[in-house]
Amino acid sequence: MTDLLTVDALKVHFFTQSGVAPAIDGIDFAIRPRETLGLVGESGSGKTMASLAVLRLVPPPARIVGGSLRFRGHDLLALDATAMRGLRGKSIAMIFQNPAFSLNPILSVGAQLIEILRWHERVSRTAARDRAAELLRLVGIADPLHRLRQFPHELSGGMKQRICIARALLCNPALILADEPTTNLDVTIQAQILDLLEELRERLHMAMLLVSHDMGLVARMAHRITVVYAGRTCETADVRSIFHAPLHPYTRALLDSTPRVDHDYGHEAHPTLRTIGGRIPNLAAPPSGCRFHPRCPEATAECAQLRPEPIQVAPGHIVSCLKRGSPGVPNAGLPTLGVPDAGLPTMELPAVGLAAMGAPPVDPTA
Ligand SMILES: Nc1ncnc2c1ncn2[C@@H]1O[C@H](COP(=O)(O)OP(=O)(O)OP(=O)(O)O)[C@@H](O)[C@H]1O
Ligand code: SF4
Ligand SMILES: [Mg+2]
Repeated sequence: MTDLLTVDALKVHFFTQSGVAPAIDGIDFAIRPRETLGLVGESGSGKTMASLAVLRLVPPPARIVGGSLRFRGHDLLALDATAMRGLRGKSIAMIFQNPAFSLNPILSVGAQLIEILRWHERVSRTAARDRAAELLRLVGIADPLHRLRQFPHELSGGMKQRICIARALLCNPALILADEPTTNLDVTIQAQILDLLEELRERLHMAMLLVSHDMGLVARMAHRITVVYAGRTCETADVRSIFHAPLHPYTRALLDSTPRVDHDYGHEAHPTLRTIGGRIPNLAAPPSGCRFHPRCPEATAECAQLRPEPIQVAPGHIVSCLKRGSPGVPNAGLPTLGVPDAGLPTMELPAVGLAAMGAPPVDPTA
């Protein structure tokens, strides 16, 4: 099946006053039509930056400095600003990590939703309001016309998240980027929101990138999983292979630190949940070679010298580990501060485009 989105060797670097931080230095994943791909990794591994890069919305001082992003065969990095604005929120929509901050506090819910629809489609204000109300009903909000008149501070966290989902669905996108869509919600609301997302994805024939640090959540929702660590992809496979035959030492460590309902802890004298020793590195000065080597139980000397490249070890199962047959390449030098980027498009901040995506307001003077 042809992929809807392919992200290949994505690189996003932060050009700070103290130097270049190569935060994302080789993230690859692909999403097929109508599937859910889970993007999993510890905090700081680059999940949000990779999602924002798909929309070319990485915030300064970050820039996309390498790799390729293709959506329906189009090179997203070659699109002009107008084409990119037309795509954001319409073909690819995003549910941002924190729903409370992604709604504009000084606009009513209705104004925010109607603005997006009228930005993308030639519809009257009344037709846009009717469509917004229909979407609120679809995401389980009762009395939608009343809710459209309310402001974000008048709504509960779960209600705000439903509105963010409705906003993402307004233009029938082919792909939804859901960045930790249930963080900050209590567990019962989390379950409702996840069920709702899955039902809508199925009903509306959408694909979804589900960003999470929670293996359990991803196991429940995703068809396939991509595991990332410190700005690089470790492993991609279907859910069953990731859970029952993980190959990358980091995937194994993540699973060992996750409680499993399919594991019988009763036979263990002192059931314990393992933790991953050490912590995710500072990506301003990441480890050489394989970025996981300082924490990897299988690391050898060459792991500090060579960067593992992805290799397909079984159909659909891709891993980046020298011990699993990945080719290793010596570390490449990094650009230094002040060196222009590779000529790839950087982030633009179109006021309407950003608002249409529901991004928090940006101060252009900052
Ligand atoms: N202004 C900055 N300068 C340098 N590095 C930065 C800056 N902002 C973010 N980073 C780095 O970018 C990396 C990727 O961050 P990102 O927000 O994508 O992580 P994440 O996987 O989404 O984490 P979380 O699970 O906490 O949301 C982090 O390691 C972070 O330290
Ligand atoms: S390449 Fe080496 S350090 Fe990296 S995951 Fe494989 S064994 Fe561990
Ligand atoms: Mg994040």
